[in-house]
Amino acid sequence: MKKTTAPWTGRRAGGGSGIAQMAARLRNALVKIARNPVTAWRMLWPRYGPFAAKAPDTEFRRAIRWSFGDLGREPLNAVFPGIEHIDVRVVRCYDREPLLSMTPSEVLAIGAMVRFLRPERILEIGTFEGNTTVNLAANAPASARVFTLDLPPDWARRYALDVPDIHYNAATGNHTGRQFIETPHADRITQLWGDSAAFEWDEHGPFDFILIDGCHTYEYAVSDTLNALRVIRPGGAIVWHDYGMLEDVSRAVDECARGIKARAIQGTRLAVGFP
Ligand SMILES: C[S@@+](CC[C@H](N)C(=O)[O-])C[C@H]1O[C@@H](n2cnc3c(N)ncnc32)[C@H](O)[C@@H]1O
Repeated sequence: MKKTTAPWTGRRAGGGSGIAQMAARLRNALVKIARNPVTAWRMLWPRYGPFAAKAPDTEFRRAIRWSFGDLGREPLNAVFPGIEHIDVRVVRCYDREPLLSMTPSEVLAIGAMVRFLRPERILEIGTFEGNTTVNLAANAPASARVFTLDLPPDWARRYALDVPDIHYNAATGNHTGRQFIETPHADRITQLWGDSAAFEWDEHGPFDFILIDGCHTYEYAVSDTLNALRVIRPGGAIVWHDYGMLEDVSRAVDECARGIKARAIQGTRLAVGFP
C-alpha cells in the first residue's frame, strides 16, 4: 500500500534524491532554529539531551518529555467512574504516523470517553489523516454526527493568528481525512475546512464533545478553548491533546482550568474539561 506522509516532515512521495531532500530538511530546520533559538532549545533539549539520547525508542524518548502543566494526572476511571465497564471499538489503530498521530492508548481513552458520554454532536479541531475522527465516529451513538476541521488543501500558508514558523504544523494535502473517507463511518462525518481562529464555530454547534488538536501555539490553544467554551453544551466535555508535552498548550489549559473543572489523564497527553 502507498504510504502517505505529512508534508511538514519534508518527505515527498517520489521525486528528488534522498540526500537532496535530507539536506533541504536540515537547512530548513537550521533556519528555524536560528530564528527561534530559545523555543528550539526548549523543544529539542528534553527530546535529544543526554538523558533522552540514552532511550533507544523514539516514541519513548518523546514520552519522557511530558513534563509541562500543573494538573496532576489521574487514571481515566477516576475522572469517569464506571468507564472501566465500557468496551471500545478501535479502528485502524496502527495506521498511524509515529510521533504525529495520537498513541493507541490516547485513541483508546478517547473512544472510551465517547462510548461513556454518548455525545450526539462532536467537533474535532485538527483532522490530520482522520484516525481519531474515525474512532470518534466508531464509538459515538449511531445517530451522532462528527464534524472535523482542518486547514484547506489550498491553504496559502498564512495563519489567522501570528504563528512563528517553528510552530507550523499544517498538514494540508490530499491525505487529510484519508482514514475515514472510504469507511462505513464516513456518512456520519463532515469535513470542514478553515482556520480554527477564523472559523464559524456556531454554525454546526452546539456540541456535546469537542477535541482540540489543531495549531499548538499558546494563542491558538487559548482561542480554540474560548471558542469551545462558547459552543459546548452544558454537561459536555472539552478534550485537549498534547497537554503535558507542549508548553504552550499546557499553559493555556492550566489557565482555563482555573474557571472549569479540568483533569489530565494518566498515560496520555489528554486533558479533559467539564465546563
Ligand atoms: C496533530 S495534527 C491532528 C491529529 C489528529 N487530531 C489525530 O488525532 O490524528 C494537527 C492538525 O491540525 C491542523 N491545523 C493546524 N493549524 C490549524 C488551524 N489553525 N486550524 C485548523 N486546523 C489546523 C493541521 O493541518 C493538522 O492536520
